[in-house]
Amino acid sequence: MSVFLSNLEIHSINLWLSIMHHYKYTSKSQRANKAKEILQLKYKKVGNGRQRIVYDLNNGYVLKVALTEFGIQNNKTEFKIYNHCRANLRKHLCPVKEVGHGWIIMKKMDIKVPDGIYNKELTQLKNKFLAAGIRPRDMGNSNIRLSKKGKITVVDYGNFIMY
Ligand SMILES: Nc1ncnc2c1ncn2[C@@H]1O[C@H](COP(=O)(O)OP(=O)(O)OP(=O)(O)O)[C@@H](O)[C@H]1O
Ligand SMILES: [Mg+2]
Repeated sequence: MSVFLSNLEIHSINLWLSIMHHYKYTSKSQRANKAKEILQLKYKKVGNGRQRIVYDLNNGYVLKVALTEFGIQNNKTEFKIYNHCRANLRKHLCPVKEVGHGWIIMKKMDIKVPDGIYNKELTQLKNKFLAAGIRPRDMGNSNIRLSKKGKITVVDYGNFIMY
């Protein structure tokens, strides 16, 4: 049961998850296209990485569906880190709303971080994560956004490691 997704949508996700291993060795974009074709969701795709395809739920949230086993793991990691880290770091993590097997729903964040001018803040934030025992892997430009208040917020922390 989900607040955001219908049973039919969850059924489609489960169908995709059951066959995604066939596309393990195809390219990132081919895998995302195949997932999109099978998922048949009514939402607009906002992006995809190597591990997940991302849809705009049109209510201020995005849905990320795993494209690989690693993507399933990434979703679990985000749920775990978001719910277990301290408030001073959590404010830099894109809020997680709901999770299920192979999927996660997060706040939609659109403001890209301009190149260059945030380097100092970025380094400070990475150090803050490290000091808290979290290795902030892959905190590159495609994985971060700015909050309305201008704070750096990580939208893809699936590869972070919490010790
Ligand atoms: N919360 C969000 N709000 C808006 N767009 C998002 C959000 N999360 C992800 N995206 C978009 O979707 C893309 C893919 O999402 P994400 O980086 O989480 O997938 P991934 O497969 O884990 O990526 P990677 O290849 O870096 O491991 C992002 O680069 C970004 O453009
Ligand atoms: Mg990413």
